Amino acid sequence: MRRQLGQVSESVAYLKKKTEIQPQIGIVLGTGLGGLADRIQAASIVPYEEIPHFPISTVTSHAGRLIFGSLGGKNVMAKQGRFHYYEGYEAKEITFSIRIMAAMGVQTLIISNAAGGLNPEFEAGDLVLIRDHINLTGQNPLRGDNVDEWGPRFPDMTEPYSHALIGLAEKTARALDIKVHQGVYVGVTGPSMETAAETRFLRFIGADIVGMSTISEVIVALHSGMSVLGISVVTNVNDPDDYQPAPIEQVIATAERAGPKLVSLVEEILKRM
Ligand code: HPA
Repeated sequence: MRRQLGQVSESVAYLKKKTEIQPQIGIVLGTGLGGLADRIQAASIVPYEEIPHFPISTVTSHAGRLIFGSLGGKNVMAKQGRFHYYEGYEAKEITFSIRIMAAMGVQTLIISNAAGGLNPEFEAGDLVLIRDHINLTGQNPLRGDNVDEWGPRFPDMTEPYSHALIGLAEKTARALDIKVHQGVYVGVTGPSMETAAETRFLRFIGADIVGMSTISEVIVALHSGMSVLGISVVTNVNDPDDYQPAPIEQVIATAERAGPKLVSLVEEILKRM
């Protein structure tokens, strides 16, 4: 971790040469939120491979980049192109960009993802404000010696997802006539999808949605003292009593259909922040 402290400093020194923007808000563009990148009045776009120590995506086809600019009147830093544990990255690599966001001055993180619906009231295409999470990945990005300059050894998890931001998101969604739920996100590693028995178990332990990202990033954001707003797009509904395959094409297509709704919601939330 100490080594990562030096790496983050070098990355940040590089980025500060590339942009004048002092971001207040960090955005992780998950599946469905990709379109938000086009709404940012970009001041600087920095490809990952230029940034010292930045993990480079070898598995995914699309290039990753950091976008610095203005959205909804706020200075933002958005991360386009994400790393997942199932691709072979370690939790520390997945969260390196969150450390960079924190060091650049980001205080609020907006993070989105595609998730499977477990709550029977949720439908494909619905949006869910994440109220809490269950980490079933067996990973924790804070494992190892703690960097006290970054945050506490045992970070508090009583309010992982800011109640104030959930309230703002609820109010904004009402104003835009967009239906949102609240729910508990359970993080798994994937890449295999859940079995029917696992789905029944996940519902039983109190989860409303399941996905393969987000948890590590949120833990590091909280460790860094950020407030977090997490939004999931329900891309498929998993009913253990009528269990159906959720092929990736369907997951992506549903996320893309719900994308514009999520983009409008996030942009309006930023305006009201
Ligand atoms: N399970 C896990 N991750 C997912 C799913 C799912 O059903 N849908 C989208 N991401």
